[in-house]
Amino acid sequence: MASKSMMEPPAVPVHQDPDILAAAARMAGEDLCSIADLSSSEVRAILKLGHDVKRNPTEYRRALDAKQMVLMFEKASLRTRMSFEAGINTMGGNAIFVDQTNSPLGERESIADVARNVERWVDVIVLRTYAHDTITEMAANARVPVINALSDFEHPCQALADFMTIEEHFGTTKGINFTYVGDGNNVCHSLMLTGAQLGANVTVATPRGYSPDIEIVTLARDIAGANGCEVRLLQDPAAAAEGADAIYTDVCVSMGMEHESTKRAPIFRPFQVNDALMQKASPSAVFMHCLPARRNAEVTDAVLDGPQSIVFDQAENRMHAQKALLLLLLGGLSNTAHFQ
Ligand code: CP
Ligand code: NVA
Repeated sequence: MASKSMMEPPAVPVHQDPDILAAAARMAGEDLCSIADLSSSEVRAILKLGHDVKRNPTEYRRALDAKQMVLMFEKASLRTRMSFEAGINTMGGNAIFVDQTNSPLGERESIADVARNVERWVDVIVLRTYAHDTITEMAANARVPVINALSDFEHPCQALADFMTIEEHFGTTKGINFTYVGDGNNVCHSLMLTGAQLGANVTVATPRGYSPDIEIVTLARDIAGANGCEVRLLQDPAAAAEGADAIYTDVCVSMGMEHESTKRAPIFRPFQVNDALMQKASPSAVFMHCLPARRNAEVTDAVLDGPQSIVFDQAENRMHAQKALLLLLLGGLSNTAHFQ
């Protein structure tokens, strides 16, 4: 079961925290398609509530009593599915899993018609898709919250848990030098936006031609400018790792891109996270990966299993961060003694 929180209790109790109270009021009934749907203060609220859920799980065990959540997944999953299911089950709700791997959303009937049916039975829709538009279209047509559990464009729940893990480890996210090395993909996009929201300096090193989407870069730089931090794009992994507090990587072949495996392998080889790259980072740096990892491809066994790796803390925190998100989107805080 979940480990004990390593965070000190906050100076301001969660039920009086202005970020959490404002987020609870604004986010109830809303969707989470992208990190860009959230303000900096809402991202901070999710992390603060996530730490409290981790520290005091029993306070929330009836918070989502009888709430129904459907997970409709077009792609494989271990962490996302289980952390959402375990998360809602431990707050009194229930999860229904619909495997869409052989039946893409929108094929048998329109996404709008799926939304108009499903909203009659459940309180929240969690989607893992290929096209990001599938998620925004469901959100536009469903009267219940829709959560992006990974699309080809973003993985917001992952990034929330990852920065919760950074905050847990370093005590802050502000001013942290966060380096992502590898493909400028869905995970990279959500990390850039979340890091910028939380005042981290984000450096991304990708091979030429694999940099993150320009709209995400522009948006992340705008957000960073407002939060006193910066977003840098490089093509040299060693320069990106210099002095980093966290080095993060992901697979170079995301789900749906398998046909590019042979072409990509040599291009991404110089971007492998290994002992030599970790030595360029701060001596107290951590290694991060969303998992699943392709061992000895984008990261060596020595780094993945080594003392700097916090990958399983990230995996655990998926559940706590998503519980916080569900509490805010489903108005669950009013059902907890903690918030009376
Ligand atoms: N990190 C992550 O989303 O893992 P799964 O693909 O197993 O859900
Ligand atoms: N970028 C990877 C993340 C898996 C969690 C993918 O989309 O397959």
